[in-house]
Amino acid sequence: MLRGRKVVLGVGGSVAAYKSAALARELVRRGCAVRTMLTAAAQHFVTPALFAALTGEAAATALFPVRQGDATPPPTDHVAWAAWAEAAVIAPATADLLGRMAGGLADDLLTTWLLAFPGPVVAAPAMNRHMWSHPAVQRNVARLRADGVRVLQPGFGALAAGEGEGWGRLPDAADVVSALEDVFAAGPPRPRPELPPPCPPLLRERAVVVTAGPTREPIDPVRFISNPSSGRMGYAFAEAARDMGGRVLLVSGPVALPPPAGVDVVSVTTALQMRDAVLAAAPTADLVVFAAAVADSRPAEPSATKLKKGQALEGTLSLVRNPDISAEVGAMGGRRVLVGFAAEAGAGVEEAERKLRAKGLQLVAFNDVREAGAGFGAETNRVVLVDRDGGREEIGPASKRAVAERILARAATLLP
Ligand SMILES: Cc1cc2nc3c(=O)[nH]c(=O)nc-3n(C[C@H](O)[C@H](O)[C@H](O)COP(=O)(O)O)c2cc1C
Repeated sequence: MLRGRKVVLGVGGSVAAYKSAALARELVRRGCAVRTMLTAAAQHFVTPALFAALTGEAAATALFPVRQGDATPPPTDHVAWAAWAEAAVIAPATADLLGRMAGGLADDLLTTWLLAFPGPVVAAPAMNRHMWSHPAVQRNVARLRADGVRVLQPGFGALAAGEGEGWGRLPDAADVVSALEDVFAAGPPRPRPELPPPCPPLLRERAVVVTAGPTREPIDPVRFISNPSSGRMGYAFAEAARDMGGRVLLVSGPVALPPPAGVDVVSVTTALQMRDAVLAAAPTADLVVFAAAVADSRPAEPSATKLKKGQALEGTLSLVRNPDISAEVGAMGGRRVLVGFAAEAGAGVEEAERKLRAKGLQLVAFNDVREAGAGFGAETNRVVLVDRDGGREEIGPASKRAVAERILARAATLLP
Protein backbone atom coordinates (compact mmCIF):
# COMPACT_ATOMS: atom_id res chain seq x y z
CA MET A 1 0.00 0.00 0.00
CA LEU A 2 2.78 2.46 0.87
CA ARG A 3 5.34 1.27 -1.68
CA GLY A 4 6.55 4.14 -3.86
CA ARG A 5 4.52 6.74 -1.95
CA LYS A 6 6.10 10.12 -1.35
CA VAL A 7 5.67 11.30 2.22
CA VAL A 8 6.90 14.39 4.05
CA LEU A 9 7.48 13.73 7.74
CA GLY A 10 7.19 16.90 9.84
CA VAL A 11 8.82 16.67 13.25
CA GLY A 12 7.87 19.04 16.08
CA GLY A 13 9.71 19.93 19.28
CA SER A 14 8.45 17.24 21.62
CA VAL A 15 10.33 14.95 23.92
CA ALA A 16 8.82 12.18 21.75
CA ALA A 17 10.73 13.42 18.67
CA TYR A 18 13.17 10.52 19.00
CA LYS A 19 10.29 8.15 18.23
CA SER A 20 9.74 9.80 14.86
CA ALA A 21 13.13 8.43 13.83
CA ALA A 22 11.69 4.93 14.25
CA LEU A 23 8.62 6.03 12.31
CA ALA A 24 10.81 7.35 9.47
CA ARG A 25 12.59 4.03 9.42
CA GLU A 26 9.33 2.09 9.31
CA LEU A 27 8.01 4.19 6.44
CA VAL A 28 11.21 3.62 4.48
CA ARG A 29 11.04 -0.12 5.27
CA ARG A 30 7.55 -0.15 3.73
CA GLY A 31 8.85 1.41 0.55
CA CYS A 32 7.96 5.08 1.04
CA ALA A 33 10.17 7.88 -0.15
CA VAL A 34 10.45 10.05 2.96
CA ARG A 35 11.61 13.62 3.23
CA THR A 36 11.82 15.13 6.70
CA MET A 37 11.22 18.68 7.94
CA LEU A 38 12.27 19.57 11.44
CA THR A 39 11.03 22.60 13.33
CA ALA A 40 13.59 24.71 15.17
CA ALA A 41 12.36 23.23 18.47
CA ALA A 42 12.61 19.67 17.09
CA GLN A 43 16.34 20.21 16.56
CA HIS A 44 16.79 20.49 20.32
CA PHE A 45 15.78 16.83 20.51
CA VAL A 46 16.90 15.23 17.22
CA THR A 47 19.20 16.22 14.36
CA PRO A 48 18.72 16.56 10.61
CA ALA A 49 21.67 14.18 10.20
CA LEU A 50 19.74 11.39 11.95
CA PHE A 51 16.83 11.62 9.51
CA ALA A 52 19.14 12.07 6.51
CA ALA A 53 20.85 8.83 7.48
CA LEU A 54 17.54 6.98 7.97
CA THR A 55 15.76 8.22 4.85
CA GLY A 56 18.60 8.88 2.42
CA GLU A 57 17.25 12.40 1.87
CA ALA A 58 18.67 15.61 3.37
CA ALA A 59 16.33 16.83 6.10
CA ALA A 60 14.93 20.34 5.68
CA THR A 61 15.01 22.97 8.40
CA ALA A 62 15.19 26.42 6.81
CA LEU A 63 12.75 28.53 4.83
CA PHE A 64 15.23 31.34 4.18
CA PRO A 65 18.89 31.33 3.19
CA VAL A 66 21.16 31.89 6.16
CA ARG A 67 24.28 33.99 6.49
CA GLN A 68 27.31 32.81 4.59
CA GLY A 69 29.66 30.68 6.57
CA ASP A 70 26.84 29.35 8.71
CA ALA A 71 26.71 25.59 8.92
CA THR A 72 22.89 25.45 8.66
CA PRO A 73 21.62 23.54 5.59
CA PRO A 74 20.45 25.51 2.57
CA PRO A 75 16.83 26.75 2.41
CA THR A 76 14.14 24.41 1.15
CA ASP A 77 11.88 25.23 -1.77
CA HIS A 78 8.58 24.64 0.00
CA VAL A 79 6.59 24.92 -3.25
CA ALA A 80 8.70 22.25 -4.95
CA TRP A 81 8.33 19.98 -1.89
CA ALA A 82 4.56 20.55 -1.94
CA ALA A 83 4.43 19.43 -5.57
CA TRP A 84 6.57 16.37 -4.76
CA ALA A 85 4.68 15.01 -1.76
CA GLU A 86 1.57 12.80 -1.77
CA ALA A 87 0.91 12.93 1.97
CA ALA A 88 2.19 14.58 5.12
CA VAL A 89 2.70 13.02 8.53
CA ILE A 90 3.29 15.38 11.43
CA ALA A 91 4.80 13.39 14.27
CA PRO A 92 5.14 14.51 16.94
CA ALA A 93 2.55 17.26 16.45
CA THR A 94 3.20 19.62 19.35
CA ALA A 95 0.51 21.77 20.96
CA ASP A 96 2.24 24.69 19.30
CA LEU A 97 2.21 23.12 15.83
CA LEU A 98 -1.46 22.16 16.15
CA GLY A 99 -2.24 25.77 17.07
CA ARG A 100 -0.24 27.24 14.23
CA MET A 101 -1.76 24.80 11.75
CA ALA A 102 -5.30 25.49 12.99
CA GLY A 103 -4.67 29.23 12.76
CA GLY A 104 -3.34 28.97 9.21
CA LEU A 105 0.02 30.44 10.24
CA ALA A 106 3.08 30.13 8.08
CA ASP A 107 5.89 31.33 10.29
CA ASP A 108 8.45 28.61 9.66
CA LEU A 109 9.32 26.09 6.97
CA LEU A 110 6.96 23.32 8.13
CA THR A 111 3.84 25.47 8.52
CA THR A 112 4.54 27.37 5.31
CA TRP A 113 4.92 24.08 3.48
CA LEU A 114 1.69 22.73 5.03
CA LEU A 115 -0.28 25.67 3.68
CA ALA A 116 1.23 25.17 0.24
CA PHE A 117 0.52 21.42 0.31
CA PRO A 118 -3.00 20.53 -0.87
CA GLY A 119 -2.79 16.80 -0.08
CA PRO A 120 -3.82 14.76 2.97
CA VAL A 121 -2.26 15.42 6.38
CA VAL A 122 -2.01 13.01 9.31
CA ALA A 123 -1.06 14.58 12.66
CA ALA A 124 0.13 12.47 15.59
CA PRO A 125 0.05 14.61 18.74
CA ALA A 126 2.35 14.17 21.70
CA MET A 127 2.29 16.32 24.76
CA ASN A 128 1.77 16.58 28.48
CA ARG A 129 -1.74 15.41 29.45
CA HIS A 130 -2.74 18.85 30.74
CA MET A 131 -1.67 20.39 27.46
CA TRP A 132 -3.73 17.83 25.51
CA SER A 133 -6.87 18.44 27.57
CA HIS A 134 -6.47 22.22 27.49
CA PRO A 135 -9.54 23.78 25.83
CA ALA A 136 -7.34 25.77 23.45
CA VAL A 137 -5.63 22.61 22.20
CA GLN A 138 -8.95 20.77 21.91
CA ARG A 139 -10.38 23.72 19.99
CA ASN A 140 -7.44 23.59 17.58
CA VAL A 141 -7.83 19.84 17.15
CA ALA A 142 -11.55 20.24 16.37
CA ARG A 143 -10.74 23.00 13.88
CA LEU A 144 -8.09 20.88 12.15
CA ARG A 145 -10.42 17.88 11.96
CA ALA A 146 -13.10 20.08 10.45
CA ASP A 147 -10.50 21.20 7.90
CA GLY A 148 -9.89 17.56 6.96
CA VAL A 149 -6.65 16.92 8.87
CA ARG A 150 -6.53 13.43 10.40
CA VAL A 151 -5.52 14.26 13.96
CA LEU A 152 -4.92 10.96 15.72
CA GLN A 153 -5.86 10.35 19.33
CA PRO A 154 -2.70 10.34 21.45
CA GLY A 155 -1.96 7.16 23.34
CA PHE A 156 -2.64 6.53 27.02
CA GLY A 157 0.17 5.56 29.31
CA ALA A 158 3.20 6.77 31.22
CA LEU A 159 4.16 10.31 30.26
CA ALA A 160 7.59 11.92 30.31
CA ALA A 161 8.90 14.11 33.15
CA GLY A 162 7.19 12.10 35.90
CA GLU A 163 3.76 13.22 34.69
CA GLY A 164 2.21 9.90 35.67
CA GLU A 165 -0.31 8.23 33.40
CA GLY A 166 -2.59 10.01 30.98
CA TRP A 167 -3.50 10.78 27.41
CA GLY A 168 -0.69 12.48 25.53
CA ARG A 169 1.74 9.81 24.34
CA LEU A 170 2.74 9.90 20.69
CA PRO A 171 0.57 7.28 18.92
CA ASP A 172 2.49 4.11 18.07
CA ALA A 173 4.26 4.01 14.72
CA ALA A 174 1.87 1.19 13.69
CA ASP A 175 -1.14 3.47 14.24
CA VAL A 176 0.43 6.29 12.27
CA VAL A 177 1.28 3.90 9.43
CA SER A 178 -2.24 2.52 9.38
CA ALA A 179 -3.72 6.05 9.29
CA LEU A 180 -1.46 6.78 6.34
CA GLU A 181 -2.61 3.60 4.62
CA ASP A 182 -6.23 4.69 5.16
CA VAL A 183 -5.43 8.02 3.56
CA PHE A 184 -4.02 6.34 0.46
CA ALA A 185 -6.82 3.75 0.40
CA ALA A 186 -9.35 6.60 0.36
CA GLY A 187 -7.99 7.61 -3.04
CA PRO A 188 -7.17 11.06 -4.25
CA PRO A 189 -8.24 13.79 -1.82
CA ARG A 190 -11.54 15.46 -2.50
CA PRO A 191 -10.93 18.77 -4.20
CA ARG A 192 -11.25 21.62 -1.75
CA PRO A 193 -14.61 23.35 -2.04
CA GLU A 194 -14.47 26.19 -4.49
CA LEU A 195 -14.73 29.61 -2.96
CA PRO A 196 -18.11 31.19 -3.65
CA PRO A 197 -17.98 33.32 -6.75
CA PRO A 198 -17.18 36.92 -5.87
CA CYS A 199 -20.38 38.84 -5.21
CA PRO A 200 -21.07 41.96 -7.20
CA PRO A 201 -20.08 44.98 -5.09
CA LEU A 202 -23.70 46.13 -4.83
CA LEU A 203 -23.23 47.41 -1.28
CA ARG A 204 -19.93 49.23 -1.81
CA GLU A 205 -19.35 51.65 1.08
CA ARG A 206 -22.90 51.14 2.34
CA ALA A 207 -23.42 50.89 6.10
CA VAL A 208 -25.19 47.62 6.82
CA VAL A 209 -26.53 46.51 10.21
CA VAL A 210 -27.44 42.85 10.68
CA THR A 211 -28.98 41.24 13.75
CA ALA A 212 -28.44 37.54 14.38
CA GLY A 213 -29.06 34.71 16.80
CA PRO A 214 -31.47 34.35 19.68
CA THR A 215 -31.81 36.56 22.71
CA ARG A 216 -31.83 35.28 26.27
CA GLU A 217 -34.28 36.71 28.76
CA PRO A 218 -33.16 35.98 32.32
CA ILE A 219 -35.53 34.42 34.83
CA ASP A 220 -32.81 34.28 37.48
CA PRO A 221 -28.99 34.02 37.32
CA VAL A 222 -29.12 30.44 36.01
CA ARG A 223 -32.31 30.28 33.93
CA PHE A 224 -33.52 32.11 30.88
CA ILE A 225 -36.14 32.09 28.13
CA SER A 226 -34.71 31.68 24.64
CA ASN A 227 -35.18 29.87 21.32
CA PRO A 228 -33.07 27.54 19.19
CA SER A 229 -31.85 30.13 16.67
CA SER A 230 -28.29 29.21 15.63
CA GLY A 231 -27.47 32.64 14.20
CA ARG A 232 -26.39 31.07 10.89
CA MET A 233 -28.79 33.08 8.74
CA GLY A 234 -27.69 36.41 10.25
CA TYR A 235 -24.00 35.48 10.03
CA ALA A 236 -24.51 34.51 6.38
CA PHE A 237 -26.03 37.97 5.79
CA ALA A 238 -23.11 39.68 7.52
CA GLU A 239 -20.54 37.77 5.46
CA ALA A 240 -22.40 38.25 2.19
CA ALA A 241 -22.89 41.99 2.84
CA ARG A 242 -19.18 42.30 3.62
CA ASP A 243 -18.26 40.49 0.39
CA MET A 244 -20.59 42.81 -1.51
CA GLY A 245 -18.50 45.76 -0.30
CA GLY A 246 -20.60 46.84 2.70
CA ARG A 247 -19.32 48.13 6.04
CA VAL A 248 -21.08 45.69 8.29
CA LEU A 249 -22.07 45.84 11.94
CA LEU A 250 -23.33 42.51 13.25
CA VAL A 251 -25.41 42.68 16.43
CA SER A 252 -25.33 39.13 17.66
CA GLY A 253 -27.13 37.29 20.41
CA PRO A 254 -25.40 34.31 22.07
CA VAL A 255 -24.36 31.85 19.33
CA ALA A 256 -21.65 29.24 18.86
CA LEU A 257 -20.33 30.73 15.62
CA PRO A 258 -16.93 32.37 15.16
CA PRO A 259 -17.09 36.13 14.52
CA PRO A 260 -16.81 36.74 10.77
CA ALA A 261 -13.59 38.43 9.67
CA GLY A 262 -13.89 41.99 8.46
CA VAL A 263 -17.19 42.58 10.25
CA ASP A 264 -17.70 44.68 13.42
CA VAL A 265 -19.49 42.55 15.98
CA VAL A 266 -21.47 43.75 19.01
CA SER A 267 -22.37 40.84 21.26
CA VAL A 268 -25.56 41.15 23.26
CA THR A 269 -27.62 38.82 25.40
CA THR A 270 -31.10 40.25 25.93
CA ALA A 271 -33.66 41.82 23.60
CA LEU A 272 -33.26 45.15 25.39
CA GLN A 273 -29.50 45.11 24.79
CA MET A 274 -30.08 44.20 21.14
CA ARG A 275 -32.53 47.07 20.82
CA ASP A 276 -30.02 49.56 22.29
CA ALA A 277 -27.28 48.42 19.92
CA VAL A 278 -29.55 48.52 16.86
CA LEU A 279 -31.11 51.89 17.69
CA ALA A 280 -27.62 53.37 18.17
CA ALA A 281 -26.47 52.14 14.76
CA ALA A 282 -29.64 52.47 12.69
CA PRO A 283 -29.63 56.27 12.14
CA THR A 284 -26.43 56.06 10.05
CA ALA A 285 -27.26 52.74 8.37
CA ASP A 286 -28.25 52.39 4.71
CA LEU A 287 -29.59 48.88 5.17
CA VAL A 288 -30.75 46.95 8.24
CA VAL A 289 -31.41 43.21 8.16
CA PHE A 290 -33.36 41.84 11.12
CA ALA A 291 -32.38 38.17 11.11
CA ALA A 292 -32.28 37.69 14.90
CA ALA A 293 -34.95 35.63 16.64
CA VAL A 294 -35.70 38.15 19.37
CA ALA A 295 -37.73 36.81 22.30
CA ASP A 296 -41.22 38.34 22.21
CA SER A 297 -41.40 38.66 25.95
CA ARG A 298 -39.24 38.59 29.05
CA PRO A 299 -39.77 37.80 32.73
CA ALA A 300 -41.23 40.88 34.36
CA GLU A 301 -38.97 40.71 37.37
CA PRO A 302 -35.88 38.55 36.91
CA SER A 303 -34.64 37.36 40.27
CA ALA A 304 -31.16 38.47 41.36
CA THR A 305 -30.73 35.18 43.19
CA LYS A 306 -31.36 31.61 42.05
CA LEU A 307 -35.01 30.67 42.51
CA LYS A 308 -35.77 27.54 44.49
CA LYS A 309 -37.75 24.71 42.90
CA GLY A 310 -41.35 25.77 42.34
CA GLN A 311 -40.71 29.33 43.47
CA ALA A 312 -42.15 31.68 40.81
CA LEU A 313 -41.37 29.12 38.12
CA GLU A 314 -44.44 26.97 37.99
CA GLY A 315 -47.61 28.78 37.05
CA THR A 316 -46.60 32.18 38.34
CA LEU A 317 -43.83 33.44 36.06
CA SER A 318 -45.13 36.73 34.74
CA LEU A 319 -43.91 38.07 31.41
CA VAL A 320 -43.85 41.49 29.80
CA ARG A 321 -43.68 42.25 26.09
CA ASN A 322 -40.26 43.07 24.60
CA PRO A 323 -39.99 46.06 22.30
CA ASP A 324 -40.40 45.31 18.59
CA ILE A 325 -36.98 46.40 17.33
CA SER A 326 -37.74 46.32 13.61
CA ALA A 327 -40.98 48.28 14.11
CA GLU A 328 -39.09 50.91 16.11
CA VAL A 329 -36.50 51.32 13.35
CA GLY A 330 -39.33 51.35 10.79
CA ALA A 331 -40.99 54.18 12.73
CA MET A 332 -37.77 56.25 12.51
CA GLY A 333 -38.62 56.95 8.89
CA GLY A 334 -35.75 57.91 6.58
CA ARG A 335 -34.66 56.27 3.37
CA ARG A 336 -32.85 53.28 4.76
CA VAL A 337 -33.90 49.87 3.51
CA LEU A 338 -35.22 47.49 6.17
CA VAL A 339 -35.40 43.73 5.67
CA GLY A 340 -37.27 41.58 8.16
CA PHE A 341 -37.91 37.89 8.67
CA ALA A 342 -41.20 36.20 9.37
CA ALA A 343 -40.30 32.80 10.78
CA GLU A 344 -43.70 31.24 11.04
CA ALA A 345 -44.94 27.84 12.05
CA GLY A 346 -48.26 27.45 10.32
CA ALA A 347 -49.17 31.00 9.35
CA GLY A 348 -49.24 31.75 5.63
CA VAL A 349 -47.26 34.25 3.60
CA GLU A 350 -50.06 36.77 4.26
CA GLU A 351 -48.58 37.12 7.75
CA ALA A 352 -45.34 38.34 6.17
CA GLU A 353 -47.28 40.91 4.14
CA ARG A 354 -49.03 42.09 7.29
CA LYS A 355 -45.68 42.47 9.10
CA LEU A 356 -44.19 44.38 6.17
CA ARG A 357 -46.89 47.05 6.35
CA ALA A 358 -47.30 47.15 10.13
CA LYS A 359 -43.60 47.63 10.73
CA GLY A 360 -42.66 49.86 7.81
CA LEU A 361 -40.23 47.36 6.24
CA GLN A 362 -39.31 47.19 2.54
CA LEU A 363 -38.79 43.43 2.30
CA VAL A 364 -39.84 40.51 4.47
CA ALA A 365 -38.52 36.99 4.05
CA PHE A 366 -41.17 34.47 5.04
CA ASN A 367 -40.15 30.98 6.03
CA ASP A 368 -41.94 28.09 7.61
CA VAL A 369 -39.66 26.85 10.38
CA ARG A 370 -41.47 23.49 10.44
CA GLU A 371 -40.12 22.65 6.99
CA ALA A 372 -37.04 20.39 6.84
CA GLY A 373 -34.04 22.35 5.56
CA ALA A 374 -35.50 25.74 6.49
CA GLY A 375 -35.22 27.99 9.49
CA PHE A 376 -33.67 27.32 12.90
CA GLY A 377 -30.36 25.52 12.97
CA ALA A 378 -30.54 24.26 9.38
CA GLU A 379 -27.67 24.79 6.93
CA THR A 380 -30.13 25.72 4.21
CA ASN A 381 -33.19 27.88 3.97
CA ARG A 382 -36.18 28.39 1.73
CA VAL A 383 -38.01 31.70 1.88
CA VAL A 384 -40.64 33.68 0.04
CA LEU A 385 -39.46 37.28 -0.27
CA VAL A 386 -42.36 39.69 -0.05
CA ASP A 387 -42.11 43.30 -1.20
CA ARG A 388 -44.19 46.47 -0.90
CA ASP A 389 -45.78 46.04 -4.32
CA GLY A 390 -47.25 42.66 -3.46
CA GLY A 391 -44.44 40.83 -5.27
CA ARG A 392 -43.48 37.38 -4.02
CA GLU A 393 -40.17 35.76 -4.94
CA GLU A 394 -39.36 32.19 -3.98
CA ILE A 395 -35.71 31.72 -2.97
CA GLY A 396 -34.18 28.33 -2.27
CA PRO A 397 -33.95 25.73 -0.97
CA ALA A 398 -30.35 26.93 -1.01
CA SER A 399 -27.49 27.53 1.41
CA LYS A 400 -28.16 30.34 3.85
CA ARG A 401 -25.29 32.22 2.22
CA ALA A 402 -26.94 31.98 -1.22
CA VAL A 403 -30.31 33.04 0.23
CA ALA A 404 -28.63 36.02 1.94
CA GLU A 405 -26.92 37.06 -1.30
CA ARG A 406 -30.17 36.99 -3.23
CA ILE A 407 -32.05 39.02 -0.60
CA LEU A 408 -29.21 41.56 -0.36
CA ALA A 409 -29.14 41.91 -4.14
CA ARG A 410 -32.87 42.73 -4.03
CA ALA A 411 -32.39 45.13 -1.10
CA ALA A 412 -29.56 46.88 -2.99
CA THR A 413 -31.96 47.79 -5.82
CA LEU A 414 -34.09 49.67 -3.27
CA LEU A 415 -31.25 51.80 -1.90
CA PRO A 416 -31.47 55.49 -2.71
C1 LIG B 1 12.06 19.07 27.37
C2 LIG B 1 10.89 19.59 26.60
C3 LIG B 1 9.94 18.72 26.16
C4 LIG B 1 8.81 19.16 25.46
N1 LIG B 1 7.90 18.28 25.05
C5 LIG B 1 6.79 18.72 24.42
C6 LIG B 1 5.78 17.81 23.99
O1 LIG B 1 5.87 16.59 24.17
N2 LIG B 1 4.71 18.30 23.35
C7 LIG B 1 4.54 19.63 23.12
O2 LIG B 1 3.52 20.01 22.55
N3 LIG B 1 5.48 20.51 23.49
C8 LIG B 1 6.60 20.10 24.13
N4 LIG B 1 7.55 21.01 24.52
C9 LIG B 1 7.34 22.43 24.22
C10 LIG B 1 7.69 22.73 22.75
O3 LIG B 1 9.02 22.35 22.45
C11 LIG B 1 7.48 24.22 22.48
O4 LIG B 1 6.11 24.53 22.64
C12 LIG B 1 7.97 24.62 21.11
O5 LIG B 1 7.64 25.99 20.89
C13 LIG B 1 7.34 23.78 20.00
O6 LIG B 1 7.78 24.24 18.75
P1 LIG B 1 7.36 23.52 17.39
O7 LIG B 1 5.89 23.33 17.47
O8 LIG B 1 7.73 24.51 16.32
O9 LIG B 1 8.12 22.28 17.25
C14 LIG B 1 8.67 20.56 25.20
C15 LIG B 1 9.66 21.43 25.63
C16 LIG B 1 10.75 20.95 26.33
C17 LIG B 1 11.78 21.95 26.78
